[in-house]
Amino acid sequence: MSDPSLEQIQQDALAAVAASSTLSQLEAARVAHTGRKSPLSEILAGIGGLPPERRGEVGKGANLARRAVQEALDARTAELEAEEMGAALERDTTDVTLPGDPRPVGALHPITQIRLEMEEILLGLGYRVADGPEVETEWHNFTALNTPAGHPARSPSDTFFIEGHPDRMLRTQTSPVQVRAMEREQPPIYLIAPGAVYRRDDVDATHSPMFHQMEGLAVDEGLTLAHLKGTMLHFFRELLGKDREILLQPHFFPFTEPSVDVQVSYIDRSGRPGWLELAGAGMVDPNVLEACGIDSERYTGFAFGCGLDRIAMIRFGVPDLRLFFEGDLRFLEQFA
Ligand code: PHE
Repeated sequence: MSDPSLEQIQQDALAAVAASSTLSQLEAARVAHTGRKSPLSEILAGIGGLPPERRGEVGKGANLARRAVQEALDARTAELEAEEMGAALERDTTDVTLPGDPRPVGALHPITQIRLEMEEILLGLGYRVADGPEVETEWHNFTALNTPAGHPARSPSDTFFIEGHPDRMLRTQTSPVQVRAMEREQPPIYLIAPGAVYRRDDVDATHSPMFHQMEGLAVDEGLTLAHLKGTMLHFFRELLGKDREILLQPHFFPFTEPSVDVQVSYIDRSGRPGWLELAGAGMVDPNVLEACGIDSERYTGFAFGCGLDRIAMIRFGVPDLRLFFEGDLRFLEQFA
């Protein structure tokens, strides 16, 4: 290259390429040094105006310079692309050795845990889970259950009636779910109905105006109190321990005849044995079967109901019912 200015032009271009540290800087260098208005392009464009004897030399020199600059541009482009790709990969990688970002994990509420356990036991005996409304009619909550008008349970001092709807109330028991099932279908019926129930009560360590029950109903040919007893024994042994015994004591419920209190054996802290009343039960009163359209000459049935909250208190050793409903995480976390 004999033309010093061409040499200078090439050196400037190569220096600019080498100094570019990003792809956009490199692009600016390409435009400045090989673009249409670059000195190199101007030399090439001016060749036609040179005396013929110089054209070959200048043309060759300029083309060589242009090729050298282009090669440098290509090489630097490849380098910078690789660098930027590497940097992007670096930014995007996850360092699996860093400590995690812990998220609080929720857990089932203890009442829900007990409900699921109870359901599991009874599903194993062939029962299915049924559901019903919490705002009930007088018919389903009381009348069909052999609890006629004038019965003390129907008094507004015990039951939450819905304002403006004297025949509607918050259900006081899960028994109306049985009524709805029996009205809908014929035996054999084996169902359980867990859920919230409502009674006018002042709040204290063992009372709440809202609590939970689980009720069971079996209607079939030939069912007797022996089936009820066997079911209760199995249920409480599965739930509370194989060494439990049960005791049925006479009781009264409007919708069962005979009715019993189911007591379950326990040993208190000081080692003394005793009995806990954990369920109400009985043979479904024939009046109830008939009210629901089931032939009481052909079918018999038994029903049982227990308080989920009370059983959860016993199972988990919780001394105060209110703890279940206050939503205090320090309490609830212990059941996770
Ligand atoms: N429903 C009754 C109650 O609320 C419990 C029960 C259910 C009793 C089924 C007998 C049969 O106390």
